[in-house]
Amino acid sequence: MAEEIIKQYQSHIERELDRRLPAADLYPVDLHRAMRYAVLDGGKRIRPILVYSAGRVVGAPFKSLDGLACAVEFIHAYSLIHDDLPAMDNDDLRHGRPSCHRAFGEALAILAGDALQALAFQLLGQDVTIISNPTVRLQMLCILARAVGSLGMVGGQAVDLAAVDHELTLAELDSMHIHKTGALIRASVLLGALSQPQLEQSFLERLDHYAKCIGLAFQIRDDILNVIGDSIALGKSTGSDRALCKPTYPTLLGLDGSREHTKLLCQDALASLDIFGSEAEQLRWIARFIIERTY
Ligand code: FPP
Ligand code: MG
Repeated sequence: MAEEIIKQYQSHIERELDRRLPAADLYPVDLHRAMRYAVLDGGKRIRPILVYSAGRVVGAPFKSLDGLACAVEFIHAYSLIHDDLPAMDNDDLRHGRPSCHRAFGEALAILAGDALQALAFQLLGQDVTIISNPTVRLQMLCILARAVGSLGMVGGQAVDLAAVDHELTLAELDSMHIHKTGALIRASVLLGALSQPQLEQSFLERLDHYAKCIGLAFQIRDDILNVIGDSIALGKSTGSDRALCKPTYPTLLGLDGSREHTKLLCQDALASLDIFGSEAEQLRWIARFIIERTY
């Protein structure tokens, strides 16, 4: 996928996010400003782009994906706000700017995260762009709730925090990554695909496998970038995993071993797309981007 297409997606997503966020002058103003600060003008928008790209593969109408794309990005933004808090990773920098709690204070940052999570689920309930079939909507809502709850992202985060100063086996590390980061990526792909009302089960299974592979690869690459990445390009601090004594792929497998692991996951992801034609090119591009990215 050309850089130009990514940029087009990103500006479309920016507009859709902006439209769905409370206005900056709406009471309570400070809370709404904190929410807008955390969501707008930052981030690669990988999860929304996955919603659009998965929808495209199965022929879902483009317009039916806007609300879903925003819902997954609101969840992502909430998770980053909370992840940066002093009680968690204690990071001062996010998207090249002060993290939300550094800009607005801890209490407001916690509340902005809470409100963004609520807004995501409100969208699944009432956003007019999302497929109108109530059974599918409910299914989507449950997929997202499960992906971000204690058996998904939040559970993975709890394991991550408890693992500080501990050694994990490869299987435990896999499980932590799959939940903390992989679950929301997987939900993004599933929600996009379910926007096609006549979706074939076999297509859903292939896309689900693709999503599981790239979700794990994404976090392994994140671990690698925490060691070798450039803080300015990433817009966040590097070296923090080591400073916080976190178990990571590079500590367990080394940098080369970690890269090799992402390559195998990428190959597996691409193989699961082999039943699709050129309509899956965007998903193929994303799988390669995830393991090669420098930001
Ligand atoms: C970077 O994504 C983020 C991750 C690799 C996910 C890490 C997981 C968490 C922060 C979960 C935290 C959960 C809770 C409940 C606090 P990215 O590179 O796509 O970010 P971008 O928006 O900067 O592009
Ligand atoms: Mg963290």
